[in-house]
Amino acid sequence: MIRNLRLFIGKRYNAFTWLLYEYKLLINHLGSSDREKTKEKIKANLIIESHVIEKGLSFRDVKVGFRENKIIDLLDTLNNYFLRFSDRDFCTYILIPIKKYIDFNLKKGHKNSEIIEKFEKLTSVIKPDFSMEEGGVISTTRKEIHEKALIDFEGFVNLRFSIRDFSDEPVNFDLIRQAIKIAMKTPSACNRQPWRVHLIKSKEHIINILDYQTGARQFKQQIGCVILVTSTYNSFFGGEFHQPYVNGGLYAMTLIYALHSMGFGTIPLNMGFPYKKLKRLSEFAEVSEDEVPILLIGIGNIPDQLNVAYSSRFNFQEITKEY
Ligand SMILES: Cc1cc2nc3c(=O)[nH]c(=O)nc-3n(C[C@H](O)[C@H](O)[C@H](O)COP(=O)(O)O)c2cc1C
Repeated sequence: MIRNLRLFIGKRYNAFTWLLYEYKLLINHLGSSDREKTKEKIKANLIIESHVIEKGLSFRDVKVGFRENKIIDLLDTLNNYFLRFSDRDFCTYILIPIKKYIDFNLKKGHKNSEIIEKFEKLTSVIKPDFSMEEGGVISTTRKEIHEKALIDFEGFVNLRFSIRDFSDEPVNFDLIRQAIKIAMKTPSACNRQPWRVHLIKSKEHIINILDYQTGARQFKQQIGCVILVTSTYNSFFGGEFHQPYVNGGLYAMTLIYALHSMGFGTIPLNMGFPYKKLKRLSEFAEVSEDEVPILLIGIGNIPDQLNVAYSSRFNFQEITKEY
């Protein structure tokens, strides 16, 4: 009877503290009216707006002169952002789709002088390097996509295991950085890329964070480095309160596959902890207040011979409903 009562109260108390923790995060970092509040929020808003241009230019039938008023607003917001933060690379990233938009409209014989004037004024101040990266819209073919896409993905996926036995060979950090870069191609809502990566390389720090996480107790000494993937609330607005987890989870999975493609062994490690424990995370990594932990990934080289847990999967038909 007392045990049941304790369970009854304990469950509710835990849920309450967890909700309170999330409530504070949402209040501080998710407000839809806070678009001008912080650098991250302004960036998220600018990315959303520029992404609408990229999208608009990729449809089969592109409407000439679409969203002109919004693009004027976007140029004004970008101007204010540059005045505040002098962030040339980010502004270039936003200016590229606008440049493509202007080129597209001019080609179609449509000229919006206000947009062109604001764009030229801004580029004369920012001096963007337009050769830096492709953006806006590009043309490709089914053939080009299939050449790289039609790989033995099933074989690739089926031979990724959670590795719990690593070799002594040190990890090559340049390859790890390459994997982090590849995983940046993960899709995200309006291309907001809310994930953050904490690469932990020193043995002492690796052991500390693994001791904190506890899921790799038996093989923690063999792990070559760990990556903590987090995701930020500041990239989202209003009802998007689960989006940090969705987008961060997608990034973490791509990163695991990128590492797998480079021959590394990986072990995903759970970061679903109670609030009190999560608060201690900043002891192990410089995690900002709005970052939520998504996954810890232990990484190392695979020994010549090893055992892996064969975790069989349910029948896909059991989890699939067709309509
Ligand atoms: C979010 C998440 C948390 C996990 N946490 C741990 C952990 O703490 N310790 C561990 O040994 N394995 C952990 N794993 C690995 C799972 O046990 C493993 O992915 C699952 O059994 C499927 O096996 P496979 O990865 O070899 O296909 C975790 C996996 C995920 C996706």
